[in-house]
Amino acid sequence: MKYIFQTGHGKGLAKAELQAVHGNDCILDEVDDGFVVETELTDPIAHLNRLGGVVRITEILQSGSVNMPLNFEEWVVKGVDAGLEKKEGKIRYGVSMHPKSEGVLTKILKNSKNRLKEDLGSNVRFVNKDFQNLSSVQAWHENLLAPGAVELHLFKSDTKWYMVKTVAIQDFESYSYRDYDRPARSAKNGMFPPKVAQELINLAVGTMVPTDKFCIYDPFCGSGTVLQEAWLMGFSTQGSDLSMQCVADTKENMDWIKAEGQLEGPPYVFEKDALDLTKKDLPEGPFAIVSETTLGPILTKPLPEAELLQVHAELQGLYDGFFANLKKIAPKGTIMVFTAPYHRVGGDRLFLEHLPEILAEHTEIIPLSDHARPSLFFERKDQLVSREIWKVRIV
Ligand SMILES: C[S@@+](CC[C@H](N)C(=O)[O-])C[C@H]1O[C@@H](n2cnc3c(N)ncnc32)[C@H](O)[C@@H]1O
Repeated sequence: MKYIFQTGHGKGLAKAELQAVHGNDCILDEVDDGFVVETELTDPIAHLNRLGGVVRITEILQSGSVNMPLNFEEWVVKGVDAGLEKKEGKIRYGVSMHPKSEGVLTKILKNSKNRLKEDLGSNVRFVNKDFQNLSSVQAWHENLLAPGAVELHLFKSDTKWYMVKTVAIQDFESYSYRDYDRPARSAKNGMFPPKVAQELINLAVGTMVPTDKFCIYDPFCGSGTVLQEAWLMGFSTQGSDLSMQCVADTKENMDWIKAEGQLEGPPYVFEKDALDLTKKDLPEGPFAIVSETTLGPILTKPLPEAELLQVHAELQGLYDGFFANLKKIAPKGTIMVFTAPYHRVGGDRLFLEHLPEILAEHTEIIPLSDHARPSLFFERKDQLVSREIWKVRIV
C-alpha cells in the first residue's frame, strides 16, 4: 500500500524517523509537507501514535502527472463517495491542498458540494472554514475519521499530484497531556517534547517491534520524558541522572504515567554521574541508549562568542569523558541516539566544533543526514540553545 505521511515540526527529522521505522527504501516520493511511503499498516492509528514526526497518515486514492490537466473536482467527488463508510444522515468532508491555491481550493469545495448534493442528498457539507486548509487539530475536532465523514488532501510532488484520504490523525490532546500535565516539570532542564523523544527512540530502535525484553536507557534522564515515551511504546526503561532532584522527578513522573498508561513493572532510576557509569550500571539484557543529554548552563541572555566557546570546551570535555568510558563498559554494537546542545549567534549556528572528532574517536557515527556534520537539528526560533541529534554505535 502507498500512503502519504504528513510531517509536523521538522521534515528532516521526520524523514529520518520514517526511514528508521519503515526501512531506508520506504520513501517513494517527497511532497510539499510529507512523504509517499510504501508499507503495510494493519492499524494506522496505533502506528501514528508511535511516530513523533508525523501528524497524519493518509491513503493514496488517485494520482496524476503535474504536466497533465487534472480534474480535482472529479477526484474529490469520487473520493468522498468512495471514502465514506456511511452515506445516510449528515455527511461532512474536508479538502486541503499542499501547496494551497486559495482560488483552486474554493472552486473545488463549492463545485464538489453542489455535485455531491445531487448524488448524496442535501445533508452534505464541507467543514473548511473560509476555504482554508484544515490543520490536524481542526480535523481532529471535526471528527473527520467518523463513518459519516471523510477528509481528503491534494499533495504535490515535483512530478505528481496525489489525492489521499486521511486514515489517522495525530492525537495532539494526548501529547499535550503527556507534556504539560506531568506532575514534575522543570523549566531548568528545558522542555523536551514527547514527540521528539519518540523520534529519538525510533531512530535508535528502527524496525524493531517494541518489547519489554528490550530496554531504553537514559543516563541524563532529567524528568524522564524519554523513559516515559519508551515505556508507553512498550519498551522496558532505565534512567539515571547526576541530580538527586531529577531522579526524584523522574520517579514521580514515571509513577504518574504508570497509572495513566496502565503500565506494568517498576521503573529503575538511580543517581549517578554519567561519566562514572560502570558495567553493573547498564541494563542487563539488550538495550539502546537514548538521551537528551545536558543542555549546558541555563542562558537567560545571549553570551558573547568567547564565553560560548568556553562553555563548548567544557561540554566537549564531558562528551569525551562519557564516550571514552562508554566504549569501555558497553557491549559492542550498542546504539546511542542523543542530543547535544548548540547555540545560535545572530543568524548562525554555533555547534560543538570538535564533537564529530570526539564521536569518531570513541564510536562509529551512523549518519542521520547527508550534511557535512551528519546530524539533524531540533530548534525553536525563540530559544538560545538548540539540540543537534546524533546516532552512534559502540565499536
Ligand atoms: C536537558 S536535561 C534532560 C531533560 C530530560 N530529557 C527531561 O525529559 O527532563 C539534562 C540532564 O542531564 C543531567 N546531567 C548533566 N550532567 C550530567 C552528568 N555528568 N551525569 C549525569 N547526568 C548529568 C542534568 O542533571 C539534567 O537533568
